[in-house]
Amino acid sequence: MASSTVEDLLPLRHAMGRAMKRKEDPRFIRGAGRFLDDVVLPHMLYLALVHSPYPHARIKSIDKTAALAIPGVKAVITGEDLVAAKLAWLPTFHGFDQQMVLAVGKALFQHQEVAGVIATSREIALDAAELVEVDYEPLDCVVDPFESKLDKIILRDDREAKTNHIYHWEVGAREATDAALEAADVRIKERILSPRCHPAPLEPCGAVADMNKATGRLTIYMTSQAPHVHRTAFSLVTGIPEDKIHVISLDVGGGFGNKVPVYPGYVVATVASVILGVPVKWVETRTENLTTTGFARDYHMDVEIGATKEGRVTALKVTTTADHGAFDAAADPRKYPAGMFGIVTGAYDFPNAFAEVDAYFTNKAPGGIAYRCSFRVTEASFAIERGMDILAQALKMEPVALRKLNFIKKEQFPYPSPLGFVYDSGDYHLTLDKALEVIGYDELRKEQAEKRSRGELMGIGISTFAEIVGAGPGKNFDILGIKMFDSAEIRIHPTGSGIVRAGTKSQGQGHETTWAQIVAEELGLDPQELMVEEGDTDTAPYGLGTYASRSTPVAGGALALAARRIREKAKKIAAHLMEASEDDVEWKDYKFSVKGVPGKSVTMKEVAFAAYTNPAPDSEPGLEATYYYDPPNLTFPHGAYIAVVDVDRDTGYVKVRRFLAVDDCGTIINPLVVEGQIHGGLTEGFAIAFMQEIKYDESGSNLNTNFTEYLVPTSLETPHWETDRTVTPSPHHPIGAKGVGESPNVGSPAAFVNAVVDALSPLGVTNIEMPMTREKVWRAIRDAEAKA
Ligand code: CDP
Repeated sequence: MASSTVEDLLPLRHAMGRAMKRKEDPRFIRGAGRFLDDVVLPHMLYLALVHSPYPHARIKSIDKTAALAIPGVKAVITGEDLVAAKLAWLPTFHGFDQQMVLAVGKALFQHQEVAGVIATSREIALDAAELVEVDYEPLDCVVDPFESKLDKIILRDDREAKTNHIYHWEVGAREATDAALEAADVRIKERILSPRCHPAPLEPCGAVADMNKATGRLTIYMTSQAPHVHRTAFSLVTGIPEDKIHVISLDVGGGFGNKVPVYPGYVVATVASVILGVPVKWVETRTENLTTTGFARDYHMDVEIGATKEGRVTALKVTTTADHGAFDAAADPRKYPAGMFGIVTGAYDFPNAFAEVDAYFTNKAPGGIAYRCSFRVTEASFAIERGMDILAQALKMEPVALRKLNFIKKEQFPYPSPLGFVYDSGDYHLTLDKALEVIGYDELRKEQAEKRSRGELMGIGISTFAEIVGAGPGKNFDILGIKMFDSAEIRIHPTGSGIVRAGTKSQGQGHETTWAQIVAEELGLDPQELMVEEGDTDTAPYGLGTYASRSTPVAGGALALAARRIREKAKKIAAHLMEASEDDVEWKDYKFSVKGVPGKSVTMKEVAFAAYTNPAPDSEPGLEATYYYDPPNLTFPHGAYIAVVDVDRDTGYVKVRRFLAVDDCGTIINPLVVEGQIHGGLTEGFAIAFMQEIKYDESGSNLNTNFTEYLVPTSLETPHWETDRTVTPSPHHPIGAKGVGESPNVGSPAAFVNAVVDALSPLGVTNIEMPMTREKVWRAIRDAEAKA
């Protein structure tokens, strides 16, 4: 049975939580990092962190004495110790800000890391952490970005600018957009909140830092989505030459953007290992993961749309206030401080558009990471897909008709959007038509009309998102200055099997399967005989890692092009084997043949053997290639999602009766992997829409610090997903593929909210904020009834 709210299950969850606590199940109580469980090194020590109970407090003193007196405690490290070592601050993603490793002078958010205790066991380290005596002087805190704007309390003493304002970013034509809004027949304006949520990977973050004094090499086993970038960051921060640093990231237990940043625990474990000369292990607890590592969203978006009375949109203006927490650790590339928020015009052909974002510090955990999202694309998609429904309501127009009237047409691609991106390809009408047909839209609307006549609340919500994935190109996108290309290296062994390495790092996306498929398809080899390896900086070529659905658009391109380099060389060898001129050799049906000579052909396996045993006279032996691919553009997947809900008028209970996702991610490498990506992303989108929020109370306390307060959907709550697809290849990608991993998370929240608002619209409801808990829906119904 699938139900769509979670309140019924809370007693069960609390009971489960208590049972797990009793059993001390490390996966739930202490976090895990499964691959780190297997990293057990001689003389290894363990790190536990001390956290600030206050969201904003001056640190008057830290007394280590009691902790150091515990047998087994080897060291206690504080922020001041790191100042002395010049390691107190970390660069954040785009270099606009830096982040304290351990609090120096002030703690700026509740749970901020204040000290680290290193001991012979994790238990001793945790016990001793409680004995580190920190004398705090609590200060007034700021948890609301709109209050932060007023600069009454300045949070960051370390910055020259005495303001909480971080940056202003804008794109588009402000004056033309304002004028078009003024002149519009119909104009809507709504504040749309994309609430603070958390990627909550099932295994939290962790690291084992191993400074080997004998070899002079620092090996860091860590839960990293971007191992090479982390190696560079560690080298830049510590001054250890990059060749002396070896980062290994294996099965990290889910990432979703959460394992892209460098966190204080990694740095303190590394510093401790360098100082003590033995390996130091740090594995986060669930609470540490939820309270200190990168959150997502927290965008307050004022959306204005102007339209003619027939429903043709004339202007879009979005003014956003962004809450970045205590440090600007947002995962946005340098040239785009608000990421790819410029995709906010979505699938619609707006003649005028303007978007601006102002970001502020608050006393909350830092982040703003791209949780299953390409740098603010989820926020943008939510804004426009909600905005279009609000406009449809104002125009008293069918949301489908409004969307179809305003879609960018197939013939308009490549489409230059008014906010600066050039969409590569798409057929939005086709995808929506398919969704309407598969779900039986007209029948559903009839059923809804009947139900409404009986006073029942049924809703149908549509989201026809167009998004942007695949950062690079390097000319536009970089992290810490490193261009966002990606890489592949392929070595074919004499017997035709091989090893495929990429600069990406799968966290469950199935690269082991799909990378082998890309190479096998290009070379006519067996994908089962191609071993895929990622995540080891000593062996994989330099890449920017996996997040933001960039792996297929960028590394996928590198893999195809590296394979084609191999094919070029193989052609020479094939010509030599067949005693033909290279010009007469063609690659057809997965083998090399001599044009016009039927039956004269050699397979790639035969060529591979010859590459080592009988190479062409003018070519070097061996069969391998590397490609660093900087894509010419991003890719623009899209989809049409339809949610059908029934809302219980008395209790506010929402049942998601059906949900159909029709996705278009260009050429599909593996339908099963794509299906899995869609199911997972929809489940996360469902959780964001109905269950999850990282909430702070007025005093700055985080109210969602574990899985009994921050809810992850189980199979009990999760609806049944229906999926389908259309295929519009990307014209510039070597195999026509676009990214897909994030699409369901980007597209689905608006479909859920649009469905619930549609259900409540007969009562006059026009908006409801996520998460749409039963209480919130119940209140919306009661308030609307009271107004009526
Ligand atoms: O960067 P990330 O791996 O998270 O996202 P992605 O590039 O969207 O790929 C997710 C998974 O779906 C990978 O295994 C891809 O190869 C696969 N995929 C596919 O089979 N066909 C596509 N058109 C896109 C992705």
